[in-house]
Amino acid sequence: MKKVTKIGVMTSGGDSPGMNAAIRAVVRTALYHKIEVFGIMRGYQGMIEDEIFPMESRSVANIIQRGGTILKTARSKEFMEPEGRKKAYANLEKRGINGLVIIGGDGSFRGAQIFSNEFDIPCIGLPGTIDKDIAGTDFTIGFDTAVNTAVEAIDKIRDTAEAHDRLFIIEVMGRDAGYIALHSGIATGAENILIPERKTDPKEIIKSLEEKSKRKKLVNLIIVAEGDDFGGANELSDYIKSHLPSMETRVCILGHIQRGGSPTCLDRLIASRMGYHAVESLIEGRHNVFVGILNNRMNYTPLNEAVKKKQRISEEWINIVKILAS
Ligand code: F6P
Repeated sequence: MKKVTKIGVMTSGGDSPGMNAAIRAVVRTALYHKIEVFGIMRGYQGMIEDEIFPMESRSVANIIQRGGTILKTARSKEFMEPEGRKKAYANLEKRGINGLVIIGGDGSFRGAQIFSNEFDIPCIGLPGTIDKDIAGTDFTIGFDTAVNTAVEAIDKIRDTAEAHDRLFIIEVMGRDAGYIALHSGIATGAENILIPERKTDPKEIIKSLEEKSKRKKLVNLIIVAEGDDFGGANELSDYIKSHLPSMETRVCILGHIQRGGSPTCLDRLIASRMGYHAVESLIEGRHNVFVGILNNRMNYTPLNEAVKKKQRISEEWINIVKILAS
């Protein structure tokens, strides 16, 4: 086993609040162990374009509380080609970088998996995504902040919905994953929560709205994940308006505000813990895994498994939604 002496750290894919806290933890833990650290800008694209610079302890001062990522991020098409990966590796090799920490989602882990198979470089993934769609961890860096941002916004919408007796359809992020919708919907008492993991039956929604209107329940919130199979908030609103024209319906799409902002305490803590364990893993020779937390213990999932498995939504949550939203 080769000793890791110089590591590169980068953020990749969609940004998520807490990525800076993770970078800080990686840099400071590595320096503590006398390992040199290099920041790689804009993920795999910066690796290809040789945007790589040495980092000191001060490089990560005053960032733990900041959203976004000081290393910037990108989704690199060039890295999907063998030629791009070859260029990227040459840039690491010339600096003697012999370990990588990749903070990102499943797409970034897929890149790391291919890269470490092609070239002899150990890679450690840290789950940085607001979607919480990676199996093998109870938390992903950024999810807690994103869901709290959504909750704050939905609470505000409820005030105005209540004042006007309106139905609001609120679209939250989640192209393939419904966790933001599910958690923010339960936490705000939404009547319906539509997620990509379950087939949406629009007729059921109409039935339940009619039933609620008979009971004079006039305020209704429906939370839709952007990747729901029926469509987003606008599609659903058009459908409802055509079936229940008397119902005053409004749409609000929360969009990228869910990706920004200062990370919550929980996101800062898990990012710090995972970042610390990423470096410890490289030192211990635990390679090509991503670092997660399961039942409050560190959990290491091989990258090749992580790219295959998605976080499932349990039936328990679905029942809770059904029973509590009456
Ligand atoms: O993966 C995180 C995420 O925010 C998804 O929820 C969303 O569908 C996607 O990224 C949006 O990506 P972009 O910022 O590239 O439009």
